[in-house]
Amino acid sequence: MAIFKETARKSSIAATLTLLFFILGVIPLLISNWKLISINREELESSLRESFVTTASNVSSQIADYIRAYRLQVQEFNPKNMSLLGSDVAGPVATPLLMKDPNILKIRLLNKSGKGPYTQKLNFQDPRVPEWEFEAFKQALQGRSYVGGPYYCGPDDVTILLIAEPVRNQEEETTAVVSVIVSLEPLVRILSDQSAGGTQVYVVDAKGNLLLHPKKTEMNAHRNLAGSAIVSDYLRTGGRLSTVRLFVETRDGKKTEILGSHSSISGLNWGVIIQIDKNIALASVNSMIKESTKWGILFALAAALAGIFFARWITNPIQVLASHALDVGRHQNFDKKIELHASNEIQQLADTFNFMTDEIKQNIENLRNAARENKDLFMSSIRMLAAVIDAKDPYTRGHSERVKDYALIIARMLGFSAIELERLEICALLHDVGKIGIEDRILRKPTNLTPEEFEIMKTHPDKGANILSQIAQLSDIIPGMRAHHENYDGTGYPQGLKGEAIPLLGRLITVADTFDAMTTDRPYQKAFTLEFALNRIRSMAGIKYDPKVVDAFSRACEEGKVSLHKPSRPRPQPMVL
Ligand SMILES: [Fe+2]
Repeated sequence: MAIFKETARKSSIAATLTLLFFILGVIPLLISNWKLISINREELESSLRESFVTTASNVSSQIADYIRAYRLQVQEFNPKNMSLLGSDVAGPVATPLLMKDPNILKIRLLNKSGKGPYTQKLNFQDPRVPEWEFEAFKQALQGRSYVGGPYYCGPDDVTILLIAEPVRNQEEETTAVVSVIVSLEPLVRILSDQSAGGTQVYVVDAKGNLLLHPKKTEMNAHRNLAGSAIVSDYLRTGGRLSTVRLFVETRDGKKTEILGSHSSISGLNWGVIIQIDKNIALASVNSMIKESTKWGILFALAAALAGIFFARWITNPIQVLASHALDVGRHQNFDKKIELHASNEIQQLADTFNFMTDEIKQNIENLRNAARENKDLFMSSIRMLAAVIDAKDPYTRGHSERVKDYALIIARMLGFSAIELERLEICALLHDVGKIGIEDRILRKPTNLTPEEFEIMKTHPDKGANILSQIAQLSDIIPGMRAHHENYDGTGYPQGLKGEAIPLLGRLITVADTFDAMTTDRPYQKAFTLEFALNRIRSMAGIKYDPKVVDAFSRACEEGKVSLHKPSRPRPQPMVL
């Protein structure tokens, strides 16, 4: 659980640093990009607004000036060969006007019968030209100045304007008509020049009919654009839009946003329309947004990678520290030092940690020494107490130490742990501590005890339990000590416990106690041999002794792990404990 918490904390630091780098790296970039895009868009729209309004106004003025100039020239035209007027004689019109201006394609002098000389630079193939000329003639003959067109002559690939003026005599009567065909190609070129970069500039009349357009195909189509949002706005307002507006048109079922403006042409019921698809107009902004997004993503990835790198740079030493601390905690490996080779606070922390482990190691060593000394002192006290007990009876001198040795041999055969062996050692040394409370005359009696004396002797396990109960640290050995005279069949004392109900330490000490009693000289018997004592003990397995304990002891004897402390000789006599 502790390891999990450490790992979770490290992940959190790495994630936090990565997020921090991401925020610090990307947010300012996004804000600056957003501001740049916003400024760029505003400047572009402002520039577009000024450009469109200026262009529409300029184109409008140029068209008006162009046509006005030719109308004036026609009005002021004074044919040199006036004698031809009114005659039916056909012939060239010798006029400098025609010769010097390349945009005048044809000039005619017509009498009231519609006949007269003409000169032309272009032999028109378009069959509609005579019809347009006749209409112009009729209007001028009525005494009205006439402007017709623009007309796109497909076969001749030229856009023309027809201008007709009445020629009056001194009585102000119309006697003839001057009819001129003017090329509008210079105006088409102006529209074409202004239509670069997706911008469209064209001219419509008061009904929305397309008059002039840079593309010949559009001119040839004779389209009415009144349905267009921007042309409709021009027709409704009369061409007074002094800014750029956003128009929405539906083309092929898809809505399209258009930025545009328009301007009326002075002296004519025409209007110049200028427009551009918003997506094309703001293409640079859109491109900037795409570039910004692309670089933003790349920068975000770079920031995230930098965050991960720096997070690792910071958390890896911490992980080393944590791992080392865990190693020290689990294995008390105080000799291992942290080697970071850094020059920052983490290295300072590592040095402090190394110093701390040295101090802990020293303190633990001191504590261990103190504990060892305490234990030695304790065990010495136990042995001293055991020696005091044994000393009460000269025949049992060294008895407690030997019982302890035999008991430990059996316990090792049974696989006791170190703590269990330690507990058994104390229990065995003190098993007869209750004899302190038994009168010496009974303890040292060289002959068999009377029944009354034996009853007194039988109280020593309980007396021992009472003595040891004063020491809290020995509470867990009391049951074993108290049971060292219990028999496996329940015939023992002081409680008459039976079988597994007898504490194991008690069952074990019983065998060791008996073996020592049998193999040492007593007032009532001489010491038996190891083999004799072992056979006697085996014969009582399951009756007086625990068979498992007897078996373990037998194996220990067979393996040579049990040796007597002094030579003994066999004496096949009954034994009394
Ligand atoms: Fe005893």
